[in-house]
Amino acid sequence: MRITDTADLWWKSAVIYCLDVEKFLDWDDDGVGDFAGLVHRIDYLHELGVTCLWLMPFSPTPNRDDGYDISDFYGIDPRLGDFGDFVEMIRMTQDRGIRVIIDLVVNHTSDQHPWFRDSRSSLDSRRRDFYVWRRKPPKSNDRPVFPDVEDSVWQFDERTREHYLHHFYRFQPDLNVTNPEVRDEIAKVMGFWLQLGVAGFRVDAVPFLLQMEEGDTREDYLETPVEFLKSLRGILGRRSGDAVMLGEANLPRDQQFEYFGGDDGDGLTMQFDFIAMQNLYLSLAREDPRPLVDALTSRPALPVESQWANFVRNHDELTLDKLSDEERQEVFDAFGPEPEMQVYGRGIIRRLPTMLHGDPRRIRMVYSLMFSLPGTPVLFYGEEIGMGEDLAVGSRSAVRTPMQWTRHANGGFSRAPKRKLVARVVPDGFGPEHVNVSDQRHDPDSLLNFMRLLIRRRRASPELGWGSFELIRQSAESVLVHQVRAAEGRMVAIHNFRGEPETAVFRLTDLEPDDRLVDLLVDGRVIEPEDGEVSMALDGYGYRWLRVINPDSKRLG
Ligand code: NOJ
Repeated sequence: MRITDTADLWWKSAVIYCLDVEKFLDWDDDGVGDFAGLVHRIDYLHELGVTCLWLMPFSPTPNRDDGYDISDFYGIDPRLGDFGDFVEMIRMTQDRGIRVIIDLVVNHTSDQHPWFRDSRSSLDSRRRDFYVWRRKPPKSNDRPVFPDVEDSVWQFDERTREHYLHHFYRFQPDLNVTNPEVRDEIAKVMGFWLQLGVAGFRVDAVPFLLQMEEGDTREDYLETPVEFLKSLRGILGRRSGDAVMLGEANLPRDQQFEYFGGDDGDGLTMQFDFIAMQNLYLSLAREDPRPLVDALTSRPALPVESQWANFVRNHDELTLDKLSDEERQEVFDAFGPEPEMQVYGRGIIRRLPTMLHGDPRRIRMVYSLMFSLPGTPVLFYGEEIGMGEDLAVGSRSAVRTPMQWTRHANGGFSRAPKRKLVARVVPDGFGPEHVNVSDQRHDPDSLLNFMRLLIRRRRASPELGWGSFELIRQSAESVLVHQVRAAEGRMVAIHNFRGEPETAVFRLTDLEPDDRLVDLLVDGRVIEPEDGEVSMALDGYGYRWLRVINPDSKRLG
């Protein structure tokens, strides 16, 4: 790679920030966040250092699944603003060097979408085949994603006396992507938003979108599911050369590789690494980095344009479905022991700081670690200030509370009366009085300022986006030492998973005689390894990023 490649393949060194417009900032004081509010915070995001926003769904919706039940793919939810506001927002972000990607939710629509209203109206309606109907639901092992409210993926519909498919809630009928007309519609939706200036899509529920149903035959498909994905990527590339598809695909490694488009890399541009995320929590619970190391070393080698997206938390439950029952129980015991902290038998509904009992050392260690892993970091709004959750609202909504800007009424999110707020502000010790942007901006030791530093360092370390994970052996069991290198740069990162001090002693092979290690995060110390050997004393939950530099090179430490 050349340094200029980082501009072409921008997503490999991006820092992505996910937010829901309705929860971010309410500018007209009706209790609901809006695009006018978001544009007033673009400079905040710029100052934080994020380079790409991922906007959760903002289209018209009955809002029974937080906007993931869309009733018009070509609209803006009027509570949030209009197209004028949207375009102004895009313009602002472009001026500040920030790209915007949006959710592409085309596995399903709302049952209020005109396509579904038409589809369910009669057996021979114009759009009957836009959805998946069966006279008798096939006997399959297909389980609904939300087992607390749905017990089947098939729903009987009185009007035509047939069943329709829905992997999620029954009010979210699955589109029939074997129908060429539906595929054309999906392409049109993508083209529409690309034309308005978005830089790509977070593709919702990819495995379900691509799934073949019993009763489908290969011949029903114009292409295999992966070919379909590739055709979407093709459209993206033709409409906008450097736009990306970031896929939500919580799958085993071999399928992820296929979804990337294999060695050709012409499928999904990026995928969330759910496996590394889940094993990160197992490692934290055990104070032992090995599960995370196993997850990272099981990543398939990817073509240069493909990329992993790393995350600690997202807007859904912290799913632990890829762990064994015993492993999941270990994580439950450590971080979500009460039944009201768990959901669907597989996940935890808390944010990181509450799971870590607010320990600032441990919270910082986790973010330092996440940002030091090869891949692209993705933050969920509020993580940068250490927001907690509202367990009382329960389920996935617990982490979808309003952004906490100030210590004042409603956390500075809105001046509307409390009862009109789109969601309650976190009430307890993690509420705005204790956790807010405004106070942290003025506190040099705040988590917010730590995150800014991390993001700055990360942006200046292209090897983290371009390199791959190399474990460096050493003796302390609770310490992870790893290295990431690319043509531009080499970084050694050290993380202590325990609350007690540890010393990591390790050897770096293939150093140049004058190579030094410069600490980038903690104290700027310069280490001159003797014969490649380094001995690093760490505090409890200590962390270091050490850049390898040579006094002869022009690289900055
Ligand atoms: C995945 C999204 O992350 C989740 O929030 C949503 O409920 C489902 N897809 C259905 O769209």
